[in-house]
Amino acid sequence: MEDRYLTFALGKGRLADKTMEMLDKIGISCDEMKDKGSRKLIFTNEEKKLKFFLAKGPDVPTYVEYGAADIGVVGEDTILEEGRALYKVLDLGFGKCRMCVCGFPGAGELLQRRDKIRVASKYPTIAKEYFENVKRQTVDIVKLNGSVELAPIVGLSDVIVDIVETGSTLRENGLCVLEEIRPLSARLVVNQVSMNVQCERILDIIERLKRVIDE
Ligand code: PRP
Repeated sequence: MEDRYLTFALGKGRLADKTMEMLDKIGISCDEMKDKGSRKLIFTNEEKKLKFFLAKGPDVPTYVEYGAADIGVVGEDTILEEGRALYKVLDLGFGKCRMCVCGFPGAGELLQRRDKIRVASKYPTIAKEYFENVKRQTVDIVKLNGSVELAPIVGLSDVIVDIVETGSTLRENGLCVLEEIRPLSARLVVNQVSMNVQCERILDIIERLKRVIDE
């Protein structure tokens, strides 16, 4: 029997339910977590020596880097934006979406002419990297925390850099994808020390998850 806990940090929101569903399939579960009305922050499965907590997506890589969680599940968008030191071990195959430059159709011209434009995004690092290193276009980046599609509508920015999943937020607001930066999906990440200390246990989880993904 394990005497050390294995702690999971899961990103709240869209990915959390899918993540629990997948972990459930390999016997990693926690009944306490199924009570949606609970305000508890950390959940324990004593029998299997597992702990789980839900955190804001951008905080998941931080918990994992510092070893407060051994394993994290979070979108690749967040991993790229946060740039933390951790092992990216597995593409979980869900949470698929695309990081895109979006705006009104007319804004395509501003991108082609390489005008100095203003870009709003929840992902300033990804946006800066794309415009500086890939497009070599000088831009002014404005960091927002959500509902980024508002920015071009109210005149805060010319374009946005954001994730597009179904495309309905864009469509319903008269916006469109102007350029695609990269595809994204949910990822399993592991603390670098935990990978050594709990190697066998973590590799076993990765192997079992791979089998579920390939089903
Ligand atoms: C994300 C993203 C887009 C939307 C895209 O926002 O920032 O706004 O989802 O999804 P769609 O292509 O399926 O419409 P989220 O719902 O996470 O909330 P936020 O805007 O408050 O960040």
